[in-house]
Amino acid sequence: MVVQNSSDFMMKKTISESNRDAWNQALKYHQKARNNSLQIGFKNPEFTTLNRDCDEILIIKLKNIGLSGKTIAQIPCNNGRELLSLMHFGSKEGLGFDISDIAISEAKELAEISKLNVKFERVDILEIDNKYNSYFDFIYISEGSLQWFPDLNDYFSVVSRLLKKDGKILIFEIHPFAYFFENGFDIKKGNFEKLTSYFNKDPYNYKNGLDYVGGVEYESKECYWFMHKISNIISAILQNDIEIKEFNEYNVEMANNNSIKFLDKFPLSYIIVGKKK
Ligand SMILES: C[S@@+](CC[C@H](N)C(=O)[O-])C[C@H]1O[C@@H](n2cnc3c(N)ncnc32)[C@H](O)[C@@H]1O
Repeated sequence: MVVQNSSDFMMKKTISESNRDAWNQALKYHQKARNNSLQIGFKNPEFTTLNRDCDEILIIKLKNIGLSGKTIAQIPCNNGRELLSLMHFGSKEGLGFDISDIAISEAKELAEISKLNVKFERVDILEIDNKYNSYFDFIYISEGSLQWFPDLNDYFSVVSRLLKKDGKILIFEIHPFAYFFENGFDIKKGNFEKLTSYFNKDPYNYKNGLDYVGGVEYESKECYWFMHKISNIISAILQNDIEIKEFNEYNVEMANNNSIKFLDKFPLSYIIVGKKK
């Protein structure tokens, strides 16, 4: 067990509680933009949200892993739409965890509408109950998940704790390169001084809100995220008894920012498949 000093613990707690407020605020914008389309969609037993262009590669990997009869989790799960969609691969039980009160209350509503065997809990990922230790055959980690955790070792120690022996993870995430271009970097003008550093360890702070669904800008509550280097992500996985079975980088864009301009130049997303030792 890692013993954290109290100031380190308080710093991480402050970050997660600020992010909780910011996500609660953002969810209201997302719900407005989606205009009940998920509530209507999940009435149909075939409904899935894994139908974006970038999901084609994901679906192939999920079929290879084989989720039929498995107990699966998503951490964090936001409003549960991805986890509910994953249940179409035949899993017997799903659990989604997220810190946002509003996201989890929407997720519970969608689970009830869909009648799928999925439950949701509002919790900080770093504090998921020990009753779920060695409980899951598969954990799904999707875009926009790792950035909220200041220390990936903390995060992957939870992932590892929750997995059964030989349990698998699939991470389908935004490549850190995609964040390079967040500040309006224009490669033609070569304004390199505006470029975000790949090596930056300090938190980033959103001020214009997190409404990547409706695109509305608003004065956001304080929230913090971290652009982890690929080497940090890989090291944190390996240090927590998870073998890496696959690592692929893609030019498929999922960040919804101006990285789209660089589709043919940089890796913009990646998939890691891992297995608990
Ligand atoms: C972009 S979503 C990722 C899930 C999914 N890919 C999506 O796009 O909806 C980010 C989620 O992380 C959650 N989150 C941030 N920090 C967290 C923490 N410490 N514990 C649990 N959830 C957290 C937020 O509430 C939010 O729902």
